[in-house]
Amino acid sequence: MIKRALSLSAYGWIMNSNRRINTKQMPEGVWDGLGVEIAHKIELLSAFTDEKGKMTRLYLGPAHRRSVDQVLAWMREAGLEAHLDAAGNVIGRRPGNGEIQKSLMLGSHIDTVRNGGIYDGTLGVLSAIAVASRLHRAGVQLPFDLEVVAFGDEEGVRYPTTLSGSRALAGKFDAKVLDEVDADGISRREALLAFGCDPDKIGELARDPTKVLGYLEVHIEQGPVLEANDLAVGIVTGISGANRGRVRIEGETGHAGTVPMALRKDALATAAEMILAVEREARARAEHDAGIVATVGRIEVPNAAVNTVPGVVEFTIDLRAPTDKTRSETRERIALALETIAEVRGLRADVGFSYEAPAAASDPHLIEQLAAALENTGQPAFKLPSGAGHDAMSFSGHIPAAMLFVRSSAGVSHRPEEYTSVEDIDVAGRVLLAFVAGLAGYE
Ligand code: GLV
Ligand code: MN
Ligand code: MN
Repeated sequence: MIKRALSLSAYGWIMNSNRRINTKQMPEGVWDGLGVEIAHKIELLSAFTDEKGKMTRLYLGPAHRRSVDQVLAWMREAGLEAHLDAAGNVIGRRPGNGEIQKSLMLGSHIDTVRNGGIYDGTLGVLSAIAVASRLHRAGVQLPFDLEVVAFGDEEGVRYPTTLSGSRALAGKFDAKVLDEVDADGISRREALLAFGCDPDKIGELARDPTKVLGYLEVHIEQGPVLEANDLAVGIVTGISGANRGRVRIEGETGHAGTVPMALRKDALATAAEMILAVEREARARAEHDAGIVATVGRIEVPNAAVNTVPGVVEFTIDLRAPTDKTRSETRERIALALETIAEVRGLRADVGFSYEAPAAASDPHLIEQLAAALENTGQPAFKLPSGAGHDAMSFSGHIPAAMLFVRSSAGVSHRPEEYTSVEDIDVAGRVLLAFVAGLAGYE
């Protein structure tokens, strides 16, 4: 199956030795029916939701709990030693033959946004389990350990910061986030304990980079580029960096019928002007720096009423850019614009950016290996950047990471209409299996 072998130098990097590429053959049949197997499990997992009739699975919630149990069962069926770790990640491990004392990590996440789609995250987890299962059933021994990871905190819907599970494995977990609270006042620490995880042990999850070959994540593209190019899959060159911010405006609550227009301190009208300023700043920068995007996705007006001048408003900002310089400059311009609006209107505004994830370039050696896997499965090695955030970005600068994108129908994601065909899932499954086989020296 595998036609193109890697150059010895790239292979030597992966293996950290001068081991010769051998010509072991993958057993017959391992490649067949991957798409159907993965798509079927994606459908089954979609039954676990926190909101009936919608795909909503928030970190450490009831549907996440049931999904963890299902994923543990599927991992064990696939011959993996599986457990739930201290951060709420499901980890499955298949020991290698001991020749290379390192592990290759494959995975993605099983949490979702509210009323999202069924493929975002789950595709990568279930593709990795399917690959492990094929190797197990065929009795294929790998020279390295294989790990499958189902992260639980990629969307960051429940708590203000996100990627806590992958950051824990990357040794970048910040214990301060344990004090963050959700909309019901439940802290991360409390939610983890109720889930059966020990928050005080998260620091111990950090992987020794010398013991990890790399992390590869299969994920839907969530954009229109692959479809526009008539391609099933593509290699991700890098992931945009991101900031999350929160703005709190304090004006004066008043009677809608009695406070004259000139005397008002309307926090909602101020927020409206600010939201347009966020859009204006990002649009202006995007004229020169493609890929910069800013979004106000959520706004709250406490005690809102039709006949009350709003006194307090809070809204979120999500800012992303392919380079950290563009992002930090735009962040400063947005903050200045919002503070100026508040000053001119005579209201108080607190503009804070708490969450930050730097831009992450994919590892060149893993890209090369992935390109070989694409070629060997009959796919062009098309490359594209990622505007969306992913667990892979947590490993940047610590553990080599790369991603394979799979075509999203009409580029739609974070909506129930999200769709990726069984045929494209099959291509992705084969590429992932070819990637693992290639690293292990199979032909
Ligand atoms: C996750 O989908 C994100 O990019 O925020
Ligand atoms: Mn995702
Ligand atoms: Mn998502």
